Amino acid sequence: MKHYALSAVLGLAAATSALAQEEAQLVINGDLEITTRAPAPDHLDRLSEITSGWVYRSRETQELQADDFDNPGMIFVDDARAAWATAEGAAEQSCQSCHGDPEEMAGVRPVYPKWNEDAGEVRTLAMQVNDCRETRMEAEPWGYTSGDMVNMEALMASVSRGMPINVAIDGPVAETLAKGEELYYTRFGQLELSCANCHEDNYDNNIRSDHLSQGQINGFPVYRLKNARLNATHSRFRGCVRDTRAETFSAGSPEFVALELYVASRGNGLSVEGPSVRN
Ligand code: HEC
Ligand code: HEC
Repeated sequence: MKHYALSAVLGLAAATSALAQEEAQLVINGDLEITTRAPAPDHLDRLSEITSGWVYRSRETQELQADDFDNPGMIFVDDARAAWATAEGAAEQSCQSCHGDPEEMAGVRPVYPKWNEDAGEVRTLAMQVNDCRETRMEAEPWGYTSGDMVNMEALMASVSRGMPINVAIDGPVAETLAKGEELYYTRFGQLELSCANCHEDNYDNNIRSDHLSQGQINGFPVYRLKNARLNATHSRFRGCVRDTRAETFSAGSPEFVALELYVASRGNGLSVEGPSVRN
């Protein structure tokens, strides 16, 4: 019933021409192999395989991600490298002063969002970066989805590219994870659609001529050809909720932090890909 309504409202159609590129493999710069398909993690009982959003893009868009000289998102990584080494704030510290080279952060992106024991909360990477800015550097926090923040997230992702997403789902995060899962299956807006209606029940179908993916976030931040800049995870969440004609949550809200944790966990086993390229 709901399936029928969804098809009628959104003009869902089976994708026909995309099969060839779905067999493609992503290898970056000729040597970095990216896992774009993996067995679904045990806590997902409705999927057997998880797939990166890269799989569903056109051949041309896919190819942009295979070489850092072609990937328009890499320019922003360079900007973040400069910011990383620049002292700011009353403590006159840079990220570099405490953390060394950005490469020291390899392995951090795959495990975020994660529990912070001292704060007693689940933290996204953006929350952690701002905590360092405020408490360690005594500098102004960056806007949650600002250019500075998204660039820094892209740098953090780039030094972990190819590593498997491995977000913890047990222990102290359980409550937040459950809240995120609940949001994932909640129908929003006039269209009464949940994330799952599109990204779990209908991935690989076409919706308004766009090829639906599983809505994974292993590729974030993503460079979108549509707006020619890097886009944060919560900006994408906002756009998707708005498309159901619902009021949306704000970036950095507890709801979106919980949703990010849950959506990240659905990608456990896929490679970190950011900054990736999407339409
Ligand atoms: C004065 C020292 C200091 C500066 C400057 C600093 N940090 Fe940190 N950072 C820390 C400490 C200490 C931790 C561990 C804190 C914790 O776990 O609560 C940390 C943790 C982190 C983490 C999480 C690492 C992990 O394994 O979970 C990230 C990401 C991070 N910092 C990014 C940054 C960025 C980006 C900047 C610059 C904008 C920055 N930090 C500036 C001291 C600093
Ligand atoms: C009406 C259908 C629809 C709903 C409902 C929906 N999305 Fe999407 N979403 C899309 C479309 C279309 C795209 C662009 C094509 C793609 O990547 O799937 C997209 C893209 C995404 C992406 C980008 C994936 C990538 O690899 O670049 C993420 C993440 C995402 N959605 C998450 C969500 C979440 C979380 C929810 C629930 C709050 C949600 N979406 C609800 C249609 C939907």
